[in-house]
Amino acid sequence: MATNELLQEEASGSSVPERAEEPAAKKKYELIEDIPGVGPATAEKLREKGFHTVESLATATIRELTQTGVNEKQAAKVIAEARDSLALNFVRADELIKMRQNVRRLSTGSKQLDELLGGGLETQTITEFYGEYGVGKSILCHQLAVNVQLPEDKGGLNGAALYIDTENTFRPEWIVRMATAIGLDPSQIAKNIIYAEAFNSDHQVLLLEKADQVIQENSVKLIILDSLTSHFRSEYLGREMLAERQQKLNSHLHRLVRLARAFNACAVVTNQVMARPDQFFAMAVEAVGGHIVSHTSHTRAFLRRTAGGPVRICRLVSSPYLPEGERIFKITEEGIRDITEEDEIKRKR
Ligand SMILES: Nc1ncnc2c1ncn2[C@@H]1O[C@H](COP(=O)(O)OP(=O)(O)OP(=O)(O)O)[C@@H](O)[C@H]1O
Ligand SMILES: [Mg+2]
Repeated sequence: MATNELLQEEASGSSVPERAEEPAAKKKYELIEDIPGVGPATAEKLREKGFHTVESLATATIRELTQTGVNEKQAAKVIAEARDSLALNFVRADELIKMRQNVRRLSTGSKQLDELLGGGLETQTITEFYGEYGVGKSILCHQLAVNVQLPEDKGGLNGAALYIDTENTFRPEWIVRMATAIGLDPSQIAKNIIYAEAFNSDHQVLLLEKADQVIQENSVKLIILDSLTSHFRSEYLGREMLAERQQKLNSHLHRLVRLARAFNACAVVTNQVMARPDQFFAMAVEAVGGHIVSHTSHTRAFLRRTAGGPVRICRLVSSPYLPEGERIFKITEEGIRDITEEDEIKRKR
């Protein structure tokens, strides 16, 4: 009650900016307090729930905001103002084309793999890598966390990486080796990888909910969840918990895609596979998480081993517009690389 009264007061206060002189001028709110109707008390409540930026409010749902104690009407107004500020409203198709032009691509370190993915991983969407234990999913995440820091003409996004690790498999040694191999200063590269270990699924969800400020302050251009599903898988056992798990995973993934869109960043998740004993041929394994994960991930790539050695096969399983296909790459001491002709000869022997 008290919160709502406070909000009404803030809404009717004098903080509403004058817009008469320049009706066509685009507003741009820097801080959430700059949004009409968000006073200091509301701002604090919103921040507590992870809404640190105008971007996060623009992509929030009314329900999420009412959970912070804001009433429905107020929530709708704040969201509308934030959207307006960022021009996240109805757009014409030509503007959509312009938005698409903002999509940037992040190189994996392998030309073959980049080609399979249409030139690298796309910003504004989620790319999922799934495959069995030890196939190289985490190594690929490390490589991306290094590559994202490269300038755009070298395949990077000139930004930092946010690395949410659920299995405690992040290894700074890999970062040092990978950075050194491409002539970068390892300590500088390590500085731009913001790391957090998620101890359980609730913690993982919370970390992402609080991520927007970190993303903005550090120019994060790559958000990694390695792995997306391991905690969910071990905590939600049995059929009776399935619906709850899927619902949580769903909102977690939506949060991720919204962050990726708001900050024009790449989002990468890894996923394990489970056996599909009912399918003997083709792909007898399936990614954990079922339909929710497969529908929300925009690009899905399945990694598998070849007989022995460091060579891996990546299969593009689904993409909004790219054809299915396969490419090979290898894992070396220096990271993800293309296969050389010598490797090919060895492989065929
Ligand atoms: N220096 C190296 N050169 C080549 N391959 C290596 C090297 N170091 C590790 N590997 C390979 O990388 C694999 C580990 O990869 P990674 O940790 O990325 O797997 P993952 O797919 O993340 O597995 P999990 O599902 O357990 O998380 C090892 O099994 C090994 O085959
Ligand atoms: Mg791993």
